[in-house]
Amino acid sequence: MFLTANYSRNFIITLSAVINIKAGIVPTTQNYRNRKVRLMYIQWKKSYETNHPLIDVEHRLLVMLFRKLDVAIKTGETETTVLRIVQEVKRYVKFHFTSEENLMYETNYPGIEGHIAIHTHLLVDLNNMLGKLTIHREFPEDVLDFLSDWLTNHIAHHDQLLAKHVTNATDRPVAELIYPEYLQAIIAQDSIPD
Ligand SMILES: [Fe+2]
Ligand SMILES: [Fe+2]
Repeated sequence: MFLTANYSRNFIITLSAVINIKAGIVPTTQNYRNRKVRLMYIQWKKSYETNHPLIDVEHRLLVMLFRKLDVAIKTGETETTVLRIVQEVKRYVKFHFTSEENLMYETNYPGIEGHIAIHTHLLVDLNNMLGKLTIHREFPEDVLDFLSDWLTNHIAHHDQLLAKHVTNATDRPVAELIYPEYLQAIIAQDSIPD
């Protein structure tokens, strides 16, 4: 358990629910420790869409992992389980940043230095926040608030600017046609012939 007193835990869940309503996170009713409580889980929002196929797919996976961590914390999964999910989140975030930065290099994004600096800063903040869980075994709700802020600020603002640039850039991303074709095949559950 991350928090020793049930009272503190329930108070923080309630507080977090209020914060998440402000962030536009939709409520879900869950049976939590034999009590019906209103829980808010991180979820995909229309404002996160950039209309770039690769960026949007990676962001959807990012939100899915944030949500997985959110659910694990709020439904009282074991410490070991939560910390393993933390590793998933950290590794996927690094992967996603590299992927976006490659798009910047391939399309000569003028804002590349600033955006990479923001990624570096976010990784430091993420490591600090996740370190609170890993080392001190506390503050799980702070981590969830941090992830919610990240979604609303970075994805809905900075990544929108990048996607707009990539869409209109003269220098095209490497193998860009692969993204929509491959993803469409997955959605349609087509198999690629041998
Ligand atoms: Fe992103
Ligand atoms: Fe980004």
